[in-house]
Amino acid sequence: MGKYSGHWSGDIASDWHDMRMTIPELLSFSLFGIPMMGADICGFRGDTSTELCKRWMQLGAFYPFSRNHNDDSSKPQDPVSLGPEVVQASRGALRLRYSLLPYYYALFWRAHVYGDTVVRPLFFEAPEQSNLHAIDSQFLVGPYVMVAAILQAGAATARAEFPGPQSWYNILDGQFIASDKSYELMENETVSVKGGGIIPMQEPPTQGPVTTTNTRSSPLQLLVVPDRDNQAKGELYWDDGDSLNSYEEQKYSLIEFTLNITEIRSTVQWWGYGVPSLNKISVLNQPPIKMVAVNDQPCVKPCEYTYNTQTKVLEITANLSLDKPFNVKWYEKLKTPSPNWRSWMGSKNNP
Ligand SMILES: *[C@@H]1O[C@H](CO)[C@@H](O)[C@H](O)[C@H]1NC(C)=O
Repeated sequence: MGKYSGHWSGDIASDWHDMRMTIPELLSFSLFGIPMMGADICGFRGDTSTELCKRWMQLGAFYPFSRNHNDDSSKPQDPVSLGPEVVQASRGALRLRYSLLPYYYALFWRAHVYGDTVVRPLFFEAPEQSNLHAIDSQFLVGPYVMVAAILQAGAATARAEFPGPQSWYNILDGQFIASDKSYELMENETVSVKGGGIIPMQEPPTQGPVTTTNTRSSPLQLLVVPDRDNQAKGELYWDDGDSLNSYEEQKYSLIEFTLNITEIRSTVQWWGYGVPSLNKISVLNQPPIKMVAVNDQPCVKPCEYTYNTQTKVLEITANLSLDKPFNVKWYEKLKTPSPNWRSWMGSKNNP
């Protein structure tokens, strides 16, 4: 069944217990071979509450099948009917979901071709760590994104496990969260990324309707999360987002990305469908840097970069088309000038 369709977890109740149980439901359906799965966000039977629905929107935004769904005899539970707190929380969580759709889409392609899971339990990525085997209050989306939401009534924080040996960073600002320990997270730390991944993302529009169609035409962005050896990898699978058999008919594109210490490279594995260009690369956990090169040319306007000394995030803004390979490098020291570099070093554009 999972090859052709998805599933929802049935007519669950609008209560905290049933919200918590949606995680083991989701993880189980992944194992059953039905990756497109989710539960009725804010609950189906009975009346939801403002707090429950807020927490459930923050969790359910990351179910592969993400739908707030209500019984027709219950109190309304669309975010607007529950007031600004639920609206704000829903908007934040759903915008992040939309940003991550390119990452989910590549995972669904892998599920289609290789039978991989999309959402998976923590121990799938580290079966040797027996302390992870029983965790059913957190889940992974692919190997690199973890959702650990607040699941208890009245709580403002949640205790969650951040497995080693890699480090976990807040997806919202790139700050280090924890590695190989249990950690009390705040509401803005519920989605984290693990060292070793390059996550393709797309920012949903800030004006006009936020739809998957509008978000799909936004520029792509990469979130690069180095592992302990400063390596990382990721991929983008792209097609028209709608047709059946795009992969079988080779009407898709597949781009791989790798980080090696201070250099990111892309490789075009297949080019059969146009992909929006890339306009931003964020690299986490970097030392202060002195210069950036894009395709072996110095990064000068309109190419720009910023370094945040507090979060240690290097952000490079450059327009890169994905139909051919690119490379982006950065340096802690000024590079020994070659003739090409020398003319740049003497120019006013030298930052
Ligand atoms: C990674 O970078 C190091 C240092 O520049 C280099 O020696 C090595 O060959 C690179 N590895 C790959 C796979 O490109």
